[in-house]
Amino acid sequence: MRTPFLAQKQKSLSMPFLGLAARLLLFFASPTSFCTEQESSSLINFLDGLMPDGNGDLNDSWVNGTDCCKWEGIICSSDGTVTDVLLAARGLKGGISPSLVNLTGLLHLNLSHNSLEGSLPIELVFSRSIIGLEVSFNHLKGHLQEMQSSNPSLPLQVLNISSNSFTGQFPLTTWKVTKNLVALNASNNSFTGQIPSSICINAPSFAMLDLSYNQFSGNISLGLGSCSMLRVLKVGHNNLTGALPDGLINATSLEHISLANNDLQGVLDGSHIFKLSSLTVLDLGSAGLSGTIPASVGQLRRLKKL
Ligand SMILES: *[C@@H]1O[C@H](CO)[C@@H](O)[C@H](O)[C@H]1NC(C)=O
Ligand SMILES: *[C@@H]1O[C@H](CO)[C@@H](O)[C@H](O)[C@H]1NC(C)=O
Ligand SMILES: *[C@@H]1O[C@H](CO)[C@@H](O)[C@H](O)[C@H]1NC(C)=O
Ligand SMILES: *[C@@H]1O[C@H](CO)[C@@H](O)[C@H](O)[C@H]1NC(C)=O
Ligand SMILES: *[C@@H]1O[C@H](CO)[C@@H](O)[C@H](O)[C@H]1NC(C)=O
Ligand SMILES: *[C@@H]1O[C@H](CO)[C@@H](O)[C@H](O)[C@H]1NC(C)=O
Ligand SMILES: *[C@@H]1O[C@H](CO)[C@@H](O)[C@H](O)[C@H]1NC(C)=O
Ligand SMILES: *[C@@H]1O[C@H](CO)[C@@H](O)[C@H](O)[C@H]1NC(C)=O
Ligand SMILES: *[C@@H]1O[C@H](CO)[C@@H](O)[C@H](O)[C@H]1NC(C)=O
Ligand SMILES: *[C@@H]1O[C@H](CO)[C@@H](O)[C@H](O)[C@H]1NC(C)=O
Repeated sequence: MRTPFLAQKQKSLSMPFLGLAARLLLFFASPTSFCTEQESSSLINFLDGLMPDGNGDLNDSWVNGTDCCKWEGIICSSDGTVTDVLLAARGLKGGISPSLVNLTGLLHLNLSHNSLEGSLPIELVFSRSIIGLEVSFNHLKGHLQEMQSSNPSLPLQVLNISSNSFTGQFPLTTWKVTKNLVALNASNNSFTGQIPSSICINAPSFAMLDLSYNQFSGNISLGLGSCSMLRVLKVGHNNLTGALPDGLINATSLEHISLANNDLQGVLDGSHIFKLSSLTVLDLGSAGLSGTIPASVGQLRRLKKL
């Protein structure tokens, strides 16, 4: 521990100062540093928002005053910043406290498969740090507030709010600022309104959209012509109408298309469908389309399920 520098200085320094210096040295030399009081307070506030019989025994390790980097479900970076809160399937009951937004270095929040209720604090979706937000399989309800597109771009890459009880108009303009979005899963809720048309235009890496099992209406005006990275498009079991979008044939990375159980009109255009050469699943059952299956579907070499 003792450097020649310290050994040399030792004689000339008073004892109390030396004690402090040694402690400072120990502090900076420790491999993982203590999380800040603001961070442990944000987590304690989240714990306090849970019901006493629904805190998944987190309170055994989440004790205020101890290093929150060592708490169950918490991962920190080497400088002691909380980066991950991973609490899937812990039997959590109660509300999600917006205090988590005060974890300013949080990258991943996973609260999937619990019994959380109330609304999803919209601050978490609009977070300046979170890249993966998953709250699927809970009892969350209410609307998702729209974000004004004057805001700067958000870091969010993966959003999974599926299998909850969300209702109301699905946000349309929020997706103008999620320029890093890769996957959006809002399936199995009760969202209404149109499918947002600007996702691919603004997020060049967008790859996965699952809006199935909702009450979306209107046509599939997804701006699909810009969806060059889109691999999965699942919008089955909604109230969609209109024709298949022209841009579909430009989304040549598509591997999985599911439009089943809708009220679409028109026919499957045989002169273009073969361009989707990556297709492995094409599910059009009760989609509302008429006419025969074009022979060119036979040119889709990877197709496994029709
Ligand atoms: C945690 O403890 C500190 C003092 O050690 C206190 O200031 C803070 O309010 C406590 N936080 C919560 C959420 O109880
Ligand atoms: C955690 O909460 C449970 C249920 O409320 C309680 O029985 C237990 O004593 C608490 N544990 C701690 C360490 O506070
Ligand atoms: C975040 O922390 C600040 C300062 O501690 C506090 O005033 C604010 O209420 C916290 N925000 C939330 C959403 O808890
Ligand atoms: C969240 O956790 C669940 C259960 O471990 C897992 O299946 C899911 O993929 C995770 N979500 C994300 C976005 O990583
Ligand atoms: C939620 O959706 C994301 C994005 O597709 C995915 O990574 C994650 O595994 C899904 N979670 C569950 C529990 O299926
Ligand atoms: C969306 O989430 C649901 C869980 O609610 C999961 O079953 C489904 O596979 C996910 N969709 C995709 C495309 O990952
Ligand atoms: C939809 O969510 C409910 C619970 O909210 C769940 O029981 C059901 O399995 C989910 N359905 C699908 C298709 O994921
Ligand atoms: C989809 O609906 C919009 C608005 O109602 C309309 O302007 C557009 O022409 C429709 N597109 C198709 C392909 O039907
Ligand atoms: C599809 O791509 C072609 C060639 O790049 C382009 O001319 C056409 O406008 C695109 N169609 C749509 C609907 O974006
Ligand atoms: C969707 O269709 C179902 C059955 O046809 C109908 O009961 C429901 O009201 C429709 N929802 C919307 C939002 O149009």
